[in-house]
Amino acid sequence: MLSSTLELLETARRNIYAIGAFNVYNLEGVKAVIGAAEAHQSPAMLQIHPSSLTAGGSPLVALCLEAARAATVPISVHLDHSTSAAAIKTALAAGMNSIMADGSHLPYSENLAFTKEMTQLSHTYGAAVEAEIGRISGTEDGLSIAEKEAKMTDPVQAVEFVAATEVDALAVTIGNVHGEYRSEPRLDFDRLAKIRKLISIPLVLHGASGLPASMISKSIQLGVCKFNVNTEVRQAYMRSLKEQLNAAKTPDLLDLTGSAIASMQAVVAEKLQLFGSVGKAHLHQSPYAEMLARVMVN
Ligand code: 13P
Repeated sequence: MLSSTLELLETARRNIYAIGAFNVYNLEGVKAVIGAAEAHQSPAMLQIHPSSLTAGGSPLVALCLEAARAATVPISVHLDHSTSAAAIKTALAAGMNSIMADGSHLPYSENLAFTKEMTQLSHTYGAAVEAEIGRISGTEDGLSIAEKEAKMTDPVQAVEFVAATEVDALAVTIGNVHGEYRSEPRLDFDRLAKIRKLISIPLVLHGASGLPASMISKSIQLGVCKFNVNTEVRQAYMRSLKEQLNAAKTPDLLDLTGSAIASMQAVVAEKLQLFGSVGKAHLHQSPYAEMLARVMVN
């Protein structure tokens, strides 16, 4: 069933687990996420990156929304990392449940102004907003410790930012990176604990591909209730296609896509297990869950 992102996050946070938000590009990705969520009675989020939105347009959004409506478990549809007011307006008008207003590339005051404006707009549509301060990078390579720290979320600034913008969820930067971790990930859990102490809204961790189970569970204990996953699922898709196309006999197209779905679904299922959301679908299905989430936030 198509569900509210805010309700998914608030219920997960109250019950100390996290929602997996998986980037999808097409029908295969959508089937993999919903297939894994249904097989494991878990809530999940389908998220569309702005470049996928540009490529897939409104048919991709309609596909996600319709698949979420038809699902037997709670699923919400989210626009990931949007730096553009136009893309956010398109997503809201299409009925997506939440958006990430990403002004993290901007100077702080401009990030605040952009996020505040996008939050006011999104709330008129009943959609939730995730924002980011600090700046998650593609890689940590070549940065000094001071440079890395400068990119991380400042807990005190985060308090002011959340109060001024009235966002619903905050993506934190604590050493997490998008894509592959080239060396052992190092997350600043002291910083996360400080942020958690000062801020009551749901916290989000991007770059969950490649994070070990111990870091995932520690993050959840410290208030993270949404993890973003893209790279590992995408790699499973590409690996499956490559293997099959390199096989002696060229596969049938439906067999090719079916195997790709199964490969991605296995990765999604493993993540749902790590996030602790397996078997939690029923917690989100009360007609009062959404109302309760709103009351808890206000
Ligand atoms: P990974 O590609 O590292 O899993 O990160 C995904 C992400 O954070 C999308 O916003």
